[in-house]
Amino acid sequence: MNQPQRYLVTAALPYANGPLHIGHIGGAYLPSDIYVRYLKANQRDVAFICGSDEHGAAITLRAKKEGKTPREIVDHYHLMMKKAFEDFGIRFDIYHRTSSPEHHEMSREIFLDLLKKNSFETETSLQYYDEEAKQFLADRYIIGTCPNCSSDRAYGDQCENCGTALSPLELIKPLSTLSGSAPVLKETTHWYLPMAQHETCIRNFIENGTLNGVQHHDPREWKAHVLGQCMSWINGGLQSRAMTRDLDWGVPVPVEGAEGKVLYVWLDAPIGYITNTKVWADKNGKNWEDYWKKEDTRLIHFIGKDNIVFHCIIFPIILHQHGEFILPQNVPANEFMNLEGDKISTSRNWAVWLHEYLEEFPGRQDEMRYVLCSIMPEQRDSEFTWADYRDRVNNELADILGNFVNRVFVLTHKYYNGSVPPVNPDVLTEADRQARVEGISSFENTGKKIEEFRFREALSEAMNLARIGNKYLTETEPWKLIKTDPERTAIIMNYCLQLVADLSGALAPFLPFTAEKIRRGLCLEDIFWNDAIKKDQLPEGHIIGQLPILFEKISDETVAQQMAKLEASKAVTAATSKEVKEVIDFEFFQKVDIRMARIVEAEKMPKTKKLLKLKVDIGSECRTVVSGIAEHYSPEEIVGKTVLFLANLAPREIKGVKSEGMILMAENATGVLSIISPEKEMNAGDEVR
Ligand code: MF3
Ligand code: ZN
Repeated sequence: MNQPQRYLVTAALPYANGPLHIGHIGGAYLPSDIYVRYLKANQRDVAFICGSDEHGAAITLRAKKEGKTPREIVDHYHLMMKKAFEDFGIRFDIYHRTSSPEHHEMSREIFLDLLKKNSFETETSLQYYDEEAKQFLADRYIIGTCPNCSSDRAYGDQCENCGTALSPLELIKPLSTLSGSAPVLKETTHWYLPMAQHETCIRNFIENGTLNGVQHHDPREWKAHVLGQCMSWINGGLQSRAMTRDLDWGVPVPVEGAEGKVLYVWLDAPIGYITNTKVWADKNGKNWEDYWKKEDTRLIHFIGKDNIVFHCIIFPIILHQHGEFILPQNVPANEFMNLEGDKISTSRNWAVWLHEYLEEFPGRQDEMRYVLCSIMPEQRDSEFTWADYRDRVNNELADILGNFVNRVFVLTHKYYNGSVPPVNPDVLTEADRQARVEGISSFENTGKKIEEFRFREALSEAMNLARIGNKYLTETEPWKLIKTDPERTAIIMNYCLQLVADLSGALAPFLPFTAEKIRRGLCLEDIFWNDAIKKDQLPEGHIIGQLPILFEKISDETVAQQMAKLEASKAVTAATSKEVKEVIDFEFFQKVDIRMARIVEAEKMPKTKKLLKLKVDIGSECRTVVSGIAEHYSPEEIVGKTVLFLANLAPREIKGVKSEGMILMAENATGVLSIISPEKEMNAGDEVR
């Protein structure tokens, strides 16, 4: 027998600095999981590699923000993410970590090997140094004024206000976020990858798919947006890139005199794929070098679009320089998934978090897998909305898939006591043959599309099996035929049962939990993809079992709850990001007369929606004020309350009424107003200071 085709499939190592959200899943992890489940169902030899990316400024910054050590941060998130992946049915062969001793060793070896091959150039340059914190500053550790838009909160790598990419040296009035002091420029030496030297080689690789003059892959199989991004990078001129950093968290540079320096995270992280393969292979009696060094292994990187140049240009240059490693066959990167009209953002908490979904929708992994695959941003950005989630679950999963499978189970039990009925070939009609042929062709197309990384179309092909089944049932109406033509009814039910069995196979890579329920219901063992296509899976007389409910519908209330949750996080973000106004001195403040006041009368202002006319006792006198709170308080509920009052505000005329002073209110981000009342009993006129 031929050796099965060997595959090395990687999914981007996520930074262990925050929980996973649906954008990560739809971007890299769900497509890779579907692909690998399909390959394994085809008996291919696959290593599916992932793990946490635990180095770099992304981690140290997070640690600083939370007042923890980097080690505490990565330990926490590594476990959390590993569990969320497992619970969601993303089945990596290994989920290891870049902070592990194995990885430090592998990175060290590869770096030293490249050093020996003269792959790096050292260069000394001036970089910002914090003299109080006694360390060089990563770009993100420096803030200052943006040379482009003058925002005073630009980072050393980017201004988040105007989006301009920056270098720390461009910042006006730079400050260290570590100590708050102004950093000084100091000389530092680093190892650089002179990428321009490899331009011809990498251009050929990307543009023509050739390597060392030999055809390596067909570039027409790569996604257009991936090629586009690579070519614009190459055409823009390849610059040397530093492969080391001054930082105290990472893989130490294994060279004498390089104390305080570590490998750049984007050098060590992709090496993590190699480390993790080795750790997996050692544990499973395999040889990791088969996967990384044999020409007939297909290396496929699943990533999001922000990782394209690292996986298509920089890492391939490193692998090629090293000399023994294979290069990627394809990098089917996805674009971004947005959420309810806005970019997904961790810092703004605008996200659907995987661990929260798993908690709030227990047992409903496949519903989310289905929706994320249906809207996967394969060629362009896409958008998740809860209303769309509801519609797809209700109209497609419940009404098409669930309904078909359920009808077949019910009818088989009713007419045949759960036993698969016989097919008499002499009475087959065109309709029967067609249902069977169409079903098999959709099954085959599902696999073809998966191999082309067209997961949306693949899923739609798999769902076609249910559509075909529903149509077949509706047109042949076995519930009528059972009385007049039992032989044809038996054929129809037999064919429907085969469709259900095929459906469970075709859907298994996408909806593994549902496929498993159906197969258990059918009392069928798993079989390989091609065997399932080639033959009837259910022999005559096979007894099927019971089917659990596959999909409950999603209510409008559930959608509303999720929307409210998102809105709430928006409100919190708006409030916490409100900047403090310009500084005033104490004397200025002392001029402001804020005191307690009691509301003694209140009435609506005629012909207005928002205004109340109030009479308030301010201790020394009674005042008339007009207040814009009618939508938040009725006159009846506000009379008698003691409130905060600004007494020396210049009088204003509002709708013909002279208003003297102002009731002070708190307002939240959604515009809800609240009066502010004292916690203890206070009298009108009592001073506030
Ligand atoms: N941690 C990076 C990110 O989240 C991805 C690294 S992919 C790697 O963007 F394999 F190169 F590690
Ligand atoms: Zn700016």
